[in-house]
Amino acid sequence: MKKLVILTGAGISAESGFSTFRDANGLWDQYPVEQVATPEGWYKDPSLVTKFYNHLREQLIKAKPNKGHELLASLEENFEVTIVTQNVDDLHERAGSTHVIYLHGELMKVTSSKDPNNPRFIQKLKPNHIDVLDGDKAKDGSPLRPWIVWFGEAVPNMDEAVKYAQKADIFVIIGTSLVVYPAAGLVRFVPTNVPKYVIDPKEVPTSNISNCTFIQKAASEGIMELKDILLKL
Ligand code: OAD
Repeated sequence: MKKLVILTGAGISAESGFSTFRDANGLWDQYPVEQVATPEGWYKDPSLVTKFYNHLREQLIKAKPNKGHELLASLEENFEVTIVTQNVDDLHERAGSTHVIYLHGELMKVTSSKDPNNPRFIQKLKPNHIDVLDGDKAKDGSPLRPWIVWFGEAVPNMDEAVKYAQKADIFVIIGTSLVVYPAAGLVRFVPTNVPKYVIDPKEVPTSNISNCTFIQKAASEGIMELKDILLKL
């Protein structure tokens, strides 16, 4: 089976009711990014940050995967699919995708604030117990923080994503403004001759992507069109 690697961003979850980050009224308009998505914000006011992620988790529990997530999961019937996501929601997995690499962490996971990427300290919250309380501690005794890659932090799963990008037979980008690095640079690791597809309702910078077809549509509609194209390749 051909290897299909798909990079997703906030746009794939928009039809599930989630705000994107940089569109009008996006999440970063509503909450100052320095407060809720940087290590400095965490150290200044951990209680505010904890509440913010508790709130996002409540939204996530109520949300459902949309047609776009489901179509991507269905591609596993015909391709060896790897999803590399910048999203911290678990909607790809809930739709049935079996191989998801999370570049920016996972909302349903929390970890040590001293050693966040140590697998010994990363724990998954149960759907019926999603609230972290002030004073909750990780196994190493440090305050429990969300397992989210904040601005200024390293992206530990990037190396793994690069390995798959380098071996892709087809590469797809869906619903990302392609401004946050290193994720936005993943496509540079894909061989030049490999066909690439970008799905987004707004124009995103694709002129420097080789062998690229731009489908200017919202995720679910665009993925339907893409699936037809891919099954004919
Ligand atoms: P952005 O908010 O920057 O971009 C969202 C993209 O989705 C835009 O290009 C929109 O045009 C597109 N979009 C909107 N509605 C859509 C729909 N229905 N279908 C398809 N696309 C749609 O979000 P990201 O690029 O994902 O990181 O942002 C990257 C990272 O920046 C995030 O992972 C997050 C953020 O700060 C962290 O929090 C670490």
